[in-house]
Amino acid sequence: MSEWQKSGWRSKPRVQMPDYTDPAALGAVEAQLSKYPPLVFAGEARRLKKALGAASRGEAFLLQGGDCAEAFAQFSADNIRDTFKVMLQMAMVLTYGAKVPVVKVGRMAGQFAKPRSAPTETVGGVELPSYRGDIINELDFTPEARIPDPKKMLQAYTQAAATLNLLRAFSTGGYADVHQVHAWTLGFTDRDEAEKYRDVANRIQDTLDFMTAAGITGDNNHELHTVDFYTSHESLLLEYEEALTRVDSTSGKWLAGSGHMIWIGDRTRQPDGAHVEFARGVLNPIGLKCGPTTTADDLKVLMEKLNPENEPGRLTLIARFGAGTVGEHLPRLIKTVREEGANVLWTCDPMHGNTIKSATGYKTRPFDSVLREVREFFDVHAAEGTVPGGVHFEMTGQDVTECTGGVRAVTEEDLSDRYHTACDPRLNASQSLELAFLVAEELSARRTRQAEVAVG
Ligand code: PEP
Ligand code: CO
Repeated sequence: MSEWQKSGWRSKPRVQMPDYTDPAALGAVEAQLSKYPPLVFAGEARRLKKALGAASRGEAFLLQGGDCAEAFAQFSADNIRDTFKVMLQMAMVLTYGAKVPVVKVGRMAGQFAKPRSAPTETVGGVELPSYRGDIINELDFTPEARIPDPKKMLQAYTQAAATLNLLRAFSTGGYADVHQVHAWTLGFTDRDEAEKYRDVANRIQDTLDFMTAAGITGDNNHELHTVDFYTSHESLLLEYEEALTRVDSTSGKWLAGSGHMIWIGDRTRQPDGAHVEFARGVLNPIGLKCGPTTTADDLKVLMEKLNPENEPGRLTLIARFGAGTVGEHLPRLIKTVREEGANVLWTCDPMHGNTIKSATGYKTRPFDSVLREVREFFDVHAAEGTVPGGVHFEMTGQDVTECTGGVRAVTEEDLSDRYHTACDPRLNASQSLELAFLVAEELSARRTRQAEVAVG
């Protein structure tokens, strides 16, 4: 394969990227961003890669979640804190069920650019270019709002930097201390879910009390007082990605400085396309969305290009097939991975294959379909003897009504109450926690099966 360059993607076919109309303005923004500090460091990306390698062997579990699209208008400390808080709660529930460390990765601090199923959108007979995320254009349905503006990359960078700064403070400044396990409850989570969570929290508290009494924990026990929280986003807007790419002085390798982990979307995974070309050359952990149209041949080429050294933790395959079709697609792709002897981490995105339009006109996802896809993912891995290593959700700590169902039963009529997403419908805090309990049950059943096999 030819020598990699951070601008090499420019000579490859590109899809889902804006055509900026003013090359001088674009060049000026790229020059400016190239001088800004990277948002993450190579050592952190390596540490995450190691953790994901453990998840691929079943020794850890990946929880990846956050907004479909971060938005400039919804940027606030409370929003960041609440998503962080639900993820901590979910991670506690999962750790408790799985008895392995949970690797926490936010779809945060850079998740701004969106691929779209159609290049234009028509409302009331008026056709305009589609909204492509706040880093590119604006959601307002006017011709001006939909013009791609490169300066938005600078605002996205600033928001990402401030988000990451707050996440780092939450992770290490005392907020994420496991002794706070009771304080992470959100006021509006459903009573049943809150009760179940309190139960887990009580048991954790008991364990901590026991450890203190037995002299096992000390105030300087770093693991109990802080968490590792990583960031990720779809590496879609390659001008932004290239401008933040830096050489890691320790290894001489390239780092995408825009986030710890980046992924390639289902619409931009062409083996000879620009997005794969960019991702193959950076040292970060890479995610690859796998959908119903992913072929064995493409997957082979992609695994070879994206992980030529077969490094554990480098490549995460994010399965997003849709409820009812996992049994048709996942086994065939697992077979390909097996034939290639490839090290991959399998994770389940039960969101993107389950989007429908409600009778009331809103884009939504029935919570039952989300649950069903997660179950099917676990069932296939159980049957194949492979590792279900993580989950990937679009979720928020806010009490939104975007996905229907859940114990607090959001109905189609309720969708208009608090429908705030800039793009796809997200799970609210209560639905997220409910899902975490289901996944914890699946993981604990898996542990029981393994223990039985070991004994028998
Ligand atoms: C996404 O994760 O927001 C997304 C667009 O996913 P996919 O590429 O799987 O459709
Ligand atoms: Co989405």
